[in-house]
Amino acid sequence: MERRKFLKNLGMGAVATVFAGKSFAGELTNSTLSTMENFNTHEFPALPYAYDALEPYIDARTMEIHYDRHHRSYFNNFMAAIKGTSLENKSIEQIFAKVSDAGDAVRNNSGGFYNHVFFWNNLAPKSTGPSAELSTVLTGEFGSFDKFKELFSNSAKTRFGSGWAWLYLTPAKKLAVGSTPNQDNPHMDISAIKGTPLLAIDVWEHAYYLKYQNKRADYIDAFWNVVNWEEVSRRYNAAVK
Ligand SMILES: [Fe+2]
Repeated sequence: MERRKFLKNLGMGAVATVFAGKSFAGELTNSTLSTMENFNTHEFPALPYAYDALEPYIDARTMEIHYDRHHRSYFNNFMAAIKGTSLENKSIEQIFAKVSDAGDAVRNNSGGFYNHVFFWNNLAPKSTGPSAELSTVLTGEFGSFDKFKELFSNSAKTRFGSGWAWLYLTPAKKLAVGSTPNQDNPHMDISAIKGTPLLAIDVWEHAYYLKYQNKRADYIDAFWNVVNWEEVSRRYNAAVK
């Protein structure tokens, strides 16, 4: 994939909101760092909203631990895994393209780093709905918007163990829904599903256990209240060109 398009699809271009206050996760209180164009293999981006911004659907304590411990650990471990290797100066899309050769530490931690950045940015305090164009394509592909939500939710609910569910655009430019284990994603050469991700949900227990305990389905139902459809629609527009 062409680098510029890959970066556009990472999905942080629309997020340039100014935050201030103690609950904001990053050191930077005037953050435009979380723009897709600024995504950098070697940079841990600020969370694009406050820890409590997605309450009551995702609680502040979960967000804080998820971002500042889990996500940060993936980033740190990824940096450690590529340090001094030939991957150190490669972009993350180059790493994903040959991740099957890179070993488990790179596979798990590059995915863990990227997937969470992608996930944070397809969430927002106020969910609207897909653009008219994306809405039409979703209905055309899945029969209805509700049917799409059902398929995506089922994919997330039935992912055994830890992993992610995705809405993605296949190389043939068709919308599809699927899931990946652990920290894999559709960019990876090793993934059973391949394409450009548009929407993701993290179904690792660390994403929901504090609030929902073992009830993954309740977390998935709540997720729909905080989907950043503006961002998902923007990703679609960038990917389909
Ligand atoms: Fe996670």
